[in-house]
Amino acid sequence: MPAIIEVIQADITTLAVDAIVNAANNTLLGGGGVDGAIHRVAGPQLVQECAGLGGCETGDAKITKGYKLPARYVIHTVGPVWKDGKHGEPALLESSYKRCFEVAHEHGLRSIAFPAISAGVYGYPMRAAAIIALSAAQVAQAAYPELERIIFVQFSTGAQQVYQEAAAVLGIGACRT
Ligand code: AR6
Repeated sequence: MPAIIEVIQADITTLAVDAIVNAANNTLLGGGGVDGAIHRVAGPQLVQECAGLGGCETGDAKITKGYKLPARYVIHTVGPVWKDGKHGEPALLESSYKRCFEVAHEHGLRSIAFPAISAGVYGYPMRAAAIIALSAAQVAQAAYPELERIIFVQFSTGAQQVYQEAAAVLGIGACRT
């Protein structure tokens, strides 16, 4: 059975999945947005482990434990800062998702939840970001049979609506609210 792709509205820090993805920055030492929320709930051990990772290139991903989060692991990725779409942003965002799925596969994970990487402070247009996210999920669905659930988590109903429309465009049916 290929993984089910879900689009939900929630706070990602509340999800008891194998891994939640953090939209981090190159230092991996914390920040605002979803990064700040994840570090707050995980507790100070998370930043201690992150400090030993030597940062993260844009488009790459690194894994840590989840500490006080209900999720077992956090996969930290760094999406691109949106300029105008002509500075390699789509390929870098695609790479972020691809690397998260690769790291999840290397650890045998079955469920993974993503925020809208780059679509907050980093300014990536939500609709274009959603298409890249959901397309990467379709590729992972086919590549990694052990994956059971791929969850896209939005904070706002507006963002969730955008994801649902993007899912419909891509012919992804197995979504729920
Ligand atoms: N659960 C789910 N989604 C959330 C949550 C949450 N708890 N909190 C925010 N979002 P952003 P970026 C949504 O800005 O654009 C940090 O300072 C949010 O509404 O967190 O990749 C890092 O350290 C938005 O749709 O990430 C970097 O410096 C999405 O998550 C920088 O921000 C991503 O917004 C990364 O910026």
